[in-house]
Amino acid sequence: MSLINILRKKFKLDFFTTPSHSQKFFIFSKLKQFYKYDISETDAYKPQEALMVAQKRAAKIYGTKSTYFLTNGSTSGIVASVLACVRTGEKVLLWDESHACHLNAVKLAGAMPVYYKLVKDGNWGIYTQTTAEIIEKKLKCEKIKAVIITSPAYEGIVSDVAKIKEVCKKYGAYLIVDEAHGALYPFCDKLPTSAIYSGGDFVIQSLHKTAGGLNPTALLHCNLDIDVKNALEMITTTSPSYPLLASIEKNINFLNSKKGRGKILELIENIEDLKKNVQYCEFYEGDPTKILVKAPNLNGFELSEFLYTNKIEDEKTNEKSTMLLCGVGTDFKKLKKLERVLKKI
Ligand SMILES: Cc1ncc(COP(=O)(O)O)c(C=O)c1O
Repeated sequence: MSLINILRKKFKLDFFTTPSHSQKFFIFSKLKQFYKYDISETDAYKPQEALMVAQKRAAKIYGTKSTYFLTNGSTSGIVASVLACVRTGEKVLLWDESHACHLNAVKLAGAMPVYYKLVKDGNWGIYTQTTAEIIEKKLKCEKIKAVIITSPAYEGIVSDVAKIKEVCKKYGAYLIVDEAHGALYPFCDKLPTSAIYSGGDFVIQSLHKTAGGLNPTALLHCNLDIDVKNALEMITTTSPSYPLLASIEKNINFLNSKKGRGKILELIENIEDLKKNVQYCEFYEGDPTKILVKAPNLNGFELSEFLYTNKIEDEKTNEKSTMLLCGVGTDFKKLKKLERVLKKI
């Protein structure tokens, strides 16, 4: 039985088990439905088995060796990946401006960080791609056990993962791809190819960022026969949140359905229309689900402030441009509001 169906079931038992709210004592009544579905491992539910089956099914959908459901974000997937393939004292290559979890993962593994730098695009105030050349330069000089790259970056800059993989293979290094912002990629041909299919040994995606998932649901995909489970167990609670895990199962089913794939296409079309309709602004070309915008006579911070005074909050701003995060929950109405506000500039 799927996790989703277990949570839908009505049991005629009294559980003298955790959690002690007994699915009917609602201290925070706004979250009543959440309490109702918040169960633990019991003989009657056996959600662990359902989770295993759901993860196996997910691996089939994504075409990976294994896929793990994460309820502590991509952060936990990156930490687990490093713990799975790096030992104390070994070196890990990472971007010096990467998300904090990359360095934290290296520290937790007792490994040594080696950094690479990326070039900044002065026009947009964002970092450019990670290239195979940048990675090879480092791998040539030091014995590196694993390489962590971020692709896509926040703003949708995608690196040539296949080329980077070739280099990693040549020097015997594992490749960990932080694809936190690319969870929609496996489900739409109009989007860049997911690192799952271009050689990432470990690929980590946040479902909560662009794929409509609850905070902080995420996935860890593994394309190797390596013990990731043990690494995950070291950093994961023994009392998992089954409502969150079931939401991941449902989320993947949705993305993989006609409806889900249609929603992604609709999002891309709506964003394309917005970009066409707002002629005074400049939009960064890259991942078509991202909106990175520059307005004439305004720097990024001024644009961000202008949007905020018009009741729109952006995701990330630099001195040159502003990024508005979109995903499967970004509907036509919301984009139309953004369009109206941008047209006021
Ligand atoms: C590039 C990148 N990697 C990893 C993370 C961590 O993801 P999560 O919040 O799912 O733990 C983030 C979060 O902002 C991110 O932007």
